[in-house]
Amino acid sequence: MIKADISGAGNYLDRAVWSAKLRDACEALRNEKDYAGWLHLPSETPGDAVEKICRAAESVRSRCEVLLVIGIGGSYLGAKAAIELLRPKYRADSPEVIFAGNTLSGTETQELLDYLETKDFMINVVSKSGTTTEPALALRVFYALLQRKYGEVAPSRVIATTDETGGALRRLASELGFESFVIPRNIGGRYSVLTPVGLLPIAAAGGDIRAMLGGAREAETEYMATGAENAAGEYAAARSALYASGRKIEVLAYWEPRLRWLGEWWKQLFGESEGKGGQGLFPASVEYSADLHSLGQYMQQGERIMFETVLSCADGSSLTVPALPSWGDGFDAVAGKRLDYVASAAREGSIRAHTEGGVPCLRLEIGALDAQTLGGLFYFFEYSCALSAYALGVYPFDQPGVEAYKKYMLGALGIK
Ligand code: PA5
Repeated sequence: MIKADISGAGNYLDRAVWSAKLRDACEALRNEKDYAGWLHLPSETPGDAVEKICRAAESVRSRCEVLLVIGIGGSYLGAKAAIELLRPKYRADSPEVIFAGNTLSGTETQELLDYLETKDFMINVVSKSGTTTEPALALRVFYALLQRKYGEVAPSRVIATTDETGGALRRLASELGFESFVIPRNIGGRYSVLTPVGLLPIAAAGGDIRAMLGGAREAETEYMATGAENAAGEYAAARSALYASGRKIEVLAYWEPRLRWLGEWWKQLFGESEGKGGQGLFPASVEYSADLHSLGQYMQQGERIMFETVLSCADGSSLTVPALPSWGDGFDAVAGKRLDYVASAAREGSIRAHTEGGVPCLRLEIGALDAQTLGGLFYFFEYSCALSAYALGVYPFDQPGVEAYKKYMLGALGIK
């Protein structure tokens, strides 16, 4: 279970005021009619739906060297976050999962085409609307290669994850005979990681999606019973109070490199859910120790417009610092100590320094980095994000601003 230590919010957080606001936010979330499908998803996902995803994932694993997942925003960041977190980094394991359809760079796309030329690959194209430009174009590009390599059986190497009945991708899937999965209409992209959007690529990469759903189910059970009186509610209250006190940026700081893409997913979740009507915290992320030696300077002495949310997790390794006393480099004091002992001194040191430098620090303790924890963490952030947005007075489940660039882009391209 995720633990929140919000003592860093100090006097900025008037608990009575924010308890009341969060209670109202909770009420609004319970009354949400259109986009609250994710709220009971962990407990309501039937076992046979999970079985079907696992079977498709097994088939992908046995049939290809590369699974190309085409999608953008909520249609890829959750899967990417999970795979980067759960998969050993330097162990070649089949299939490799590569994400595409999130760029319009010809160079990047050509490079990937060249790479896939010699690989056995399959495509999982993910788009709820089925009409998003970047993935739609990527599908054309990579499907052409698939056709050239596999001829008439090319459609059997594509799995589409999209709306049940609407949109261009659903039509295409029916016409060409792609295997398909459904994104429930009442779940928006950035809340969809625990649907086939995330579960299929994660399972294809070897992730334990049953454990992930189990972790999310535990969080769901707890939060449904306790409303906002839990770690997610506390985190929502603290970050909202800090925003109300004039902090404009929330910096998510993590020490484990595997959390990098979770940080990207988190930025999308909070940025797209809260940044509306001239309001909302700007979500940023830093990876320590690396960023302590770059952005750390700004954190310590730059403009006091941010607060920090520090994610801590258990280090799965017991690696120790070798004893080399004759080196005389001053590090004999930590010889024989575990690296995570040094990491925790660095973490506590930076929290203390940043706090003294005028940056309030909230702490989230997430425990072991495994599939179960990750499921709980996804749910924790989705829940606290929805509560935060309602407490701010914005609707968490739309993204009207994203449409603005699309309108001009499609206009310039002469596409209706
Ligand atoms: O959270 C969201 O709804 C968005 O980020 C979408 O996921 C993103 O725009 C991709 O949309 P689609 O799945 O329709 O291609």
